[in-house]
Amino acid sequence: MHFDPGLLDTLHNARHIAVFTGAGVSAESGIPTFRDAQTGLWAKYRAEDLATPQAFMRDPATVWNWYQWRRDLMHAALPNPAHRAIAELEHLVGRVTVITQNVDGLHNSAGSTEVIELHGNIWNNLCFSCKHPAAQAVDSSAVPPRCAYCNGMLRPGVVWFGEALPAGALEQAAEISESADAFFCIGTSSLVEPAASLPRYARASGRTVVQINPQATAHDDIAQHVLRGKAGEVLPKLLQAAWPGRS
Ligand code: OAD
Repeated sequence: MHFDPGLLDTLHNARHIAVFTGAGVSAESGIPTFRDAQTGLWAKYRAEDLATPQAFMRDPATVWNWYQWRRDLMHAALPNPAHRAIAELEHLVGRVTVITQNVDGLHNSAGSTEVIELHGNIWNNLCFSCKHPAAQAVDSSAVPPRCAYCNGMLRPGVVWFGEALPAGALEQAAEISESADAFFCIGTSSLVEPAASLPRYARASGRTVVQINPQATAHDDIAQHVLRGKAGEVLPKLLQAAWPGRS
């Protein structure tokens, strides 16, 4: 795979890189994406029935069980070469801020130390009524389990459609996108706002934007470098090309 020398220079000179990721970065860990035809979750399920507060109010057991099924999938998943390359980049560059839409926690498992989880984390639970955080492993036969404080229903700690992102997360992500030396956009269709605006903020602030995805996306036109391929294949090759002598 050939990389533009300008991209390799950008990597060498960078002291801080923002890495914006979506479901595609975990695809090679066996976790389904949302919008890929055939294999994407939203090809089989309706987001309105499973990923909104209204859906939870209508049918809490179905929503809870669907997230338990996704937890089981993620429980079996390990970080793949893309997660590991992003974690290694931190040692090569000095600072990498991962801004992820993923809820699986795999960037942390791979060793990334600065991770902003824009859509929450599936391993957390909180009360739908009083918002009090609950133990990660809830010991209860009720579906969904009940809150120890107010007896409300527990829900997974993810962001549903129509909900606000975790306090401060978007502001922090925007500030990093505008100030880091380069902005990588990896494995996201870039369709879900407000996260999808981050690549535009980066470009408008004069940052180098790099896109890694096997398919065309809504943001290819603003990227100076479009690398077509799977993240788990492209990223290790990119690191090897930029730092051939690294141990
Ligand atoms: P999508 O499913 O919309 O997009 C996944 C992207 O990953 C697509 O552009 C694929 O081409 C790409 N892709 C697939 N395999 C890949 C691989 N091996 N390497 C690199 N890229 C690959 O997922 P997101 O963009 O993450 O939100 O979706 C954003 C949000 O929509 C999610 O956080 C979720 C969803 O509904 C909520 O649930 C609130």
